[in-house]
Amino acid sequence: MPRLTVLGTGYLGVTHAACMAELGFDVLGMDVDESKIARLSAGEVPFYEPDLEPLVAKHLDSGKLRFTTSYEEIAEFGDVHFTCVGTPQKRGDLGADLTQVDAVIAGLAPHLRRPCLVVGKSTVPVGTAARLAEYLRTHAPAGDAAELAWNPEFLREGFAVLDTLKPDRLVVGVRSAVAEATLREVYADLIDAGIPFLVTDFATAELVKVAANAFLATKISFINAMAEVCEAAGADVTALADAIGHDPRIGRRFLNAGLGFGGGCLPKDIRAFMARAGELGAAEALTFLREVDAINMRRRVRTVELAREACGGALLGRRIGVLGAAFKPNSDDVRDSPALSVAGQLQLQGALVSVYDPKAMDNAAALFPTLAYAPSAVDACRGADLVLHVTEWPEFLAIDPAVLGEVVGSRVILDARNALDPDRWREAGWTYRSLGRP
Ligand code: UDX
Repeated sequence: MPRLTVLGTGYLGVTHAACMAELGFDVLGMDVDESKIARLSAGEVPFYEPDLEPLVAKHLDSGKLRFTTSYEEIAEFGDVHFTCVGTPQKRGDLGADLTQVDAVIAGLAPHLRRPCLVVGKSTVPVGTAARLAEYLRTHAPAGDAAELAWNPEFLREGFAVLDTLKPDRLVVGVRSAVAEATLREVYADLIDAGIPFLVTDFATAELVKVAANAFLATKISFINAMAEVCEAAGADVTALADAIGHDPRIGRRFLNAGLGFGGGCLPKDIRAFMARAGELGAAEALTFLREVDAINMRRRVRTVELAREACGGALLGRRIGVLGAAFKPNSDDVRDSPALSVAGQLQLQGALVSVYDPKAMDNAAALFPTLAYAPSAVDACRGADLVLHVTEWPEFLAIDPAVLGEVVGSRVILDARNALDPDRWREAGWTYRSLGRP
């Protein structure tokens, strides 16, 4: 069995490392951040992802999983090196910042003295893999024997372990039969379980990932565009989504209208995709993604507008209890979170905002230190003129509107995720408002 390494210990890297250990491989994880490695080595996952911490603990115990900060140790240990570092949006630019990808390859290459496969998993602009392969060929002592492959990752935060052990498909971009055979060996259990294994060239593998994310973002913005029309026409976008979703060619999933998409992937990936298409002379092909982005950002503005209306036309001095800070439930990730962006806007416009999230409080406070945070949903909503539901955590869906009604100043709720049951809230005496519904 090949020995595996995983470079980069964010959401993707830790999940991949623990899941590969679960598949029976000996895995060495690496990060340049010493404090992260110390925490991981002690069995502590530095972010919230369901099922991940027990899996890391299990394989620290089994001895199949270890962590290091040394490139040298990584190169010595591994036959297959997965690179799992982030590609955030550049500051002041739509494009992807490849600093971490380049740093990892530059750190690893000089230590690669024997045949091995370096497998990129990050979401990158098309053409990156070809460039990195050339870098390895010219900078690794092993030369041609240090090969590259591209194996994009499609996991969703909140379902990372499940999506890694039971992915919809595996996509590998390779340039040789040896690289393909190595990856078939790594993923043998998944292939045997019937997971489709698709072999492509580098460029196609890179594009599959951004195309998938562009499609998902477009689907969400499509239904949010319909929500805008529904608002103008007095129609109900959730009923509309149910009805069109019955057509299997359309499908009901990812048709939830509301505050729109955020997180560390969809927003920056569609922007980087547009930027890269521009560099390739194919900008026109993706101008629609500008609209996808614009529709998405308009939902945040609309939510602030509706909040102002619900507060009687002015936000100054109004108390707003905000339920949610993470960009989606079952995650503590607040990167480009629509929830926090709206909370921040409301505060800027003079509202007294109090935020509660079941898991993302620390990350939210680090990113938006000026917002007020409450220790529970009830505390966030105490005395509120408006309750704003912005992240559809199960905890919020389970709230008894009668009980919450006891502590608020006014029983007015704006459900910016269309996730609560309007009848239940109205029966408890609340004014229920949402996006895209009368
Ligand atoms: C996404 C892709 O789903 C995943 O395949 C890829 O690997 C990384 O990017 P993730 O960012 O974890 O995953 O979250 P996802 O579940 O896709 O949700 C993204 C955003 O869209 C969230 O803010 C969510 O609230 C929003 N969303 C999702 C909607 O507004 N409506 C929907 O119907 C679905």
